[in-house]
Amino acid sequence: MNKHSPKTLLESAAEARKNAHSKYSKFSVGSALLTEDGSVFLGCNVENASYGLTICAERVALTSAVAAGHKYFQAIAIVADSLAAPCGACRQVLAEFCKDDFPVYIASAKDNASFETHLMGKLLPKRFQFNP
Ligand code: THU
Repeated sequence: MNKHSPKTLLESAAEARKNAHSKYSKFSVGSALLTEDGSVFLGCNVENASYGLTICAERVALTSAVAAGHKYFQAIAIVADSLAAPCGACRQVLAEFCKDDFPVYIASAKDNASFETHLMGKLLPKRFQFNP
């Protein structure tokens, strides 16, 4: 995986987590998305006084990468206050760009050294696909 290991990607996610705007839930999440060509895009959760407008860390990283012209990805790392897998909405949004063997590394900010690896196909079997 180029110069990026799960560990370095998790470290980037932990750094991004520090920028979380999570004043309502007090639950901070950071993400680091590795593109096919080895660049890393960061995300954090950005909450809003109108709660439903909150954006998750994973979607911030993904939309930022796509806006910069990236459409192919190797892996994502997510670090939260406790071990947290991506929410259903983020799974569907990630699945738009990532195949079933795409690895999702998750870790708790309390123990960044131990992490879990989950594959997109297991997190979201039978994703919705638009095949008119
Ligand atoms: N959150 C994420 O950033 N990613 C997820 O996959 C699930 C939840 C954020 C949204 C909200 O700011 C906080 O965690 C609590 O739900």
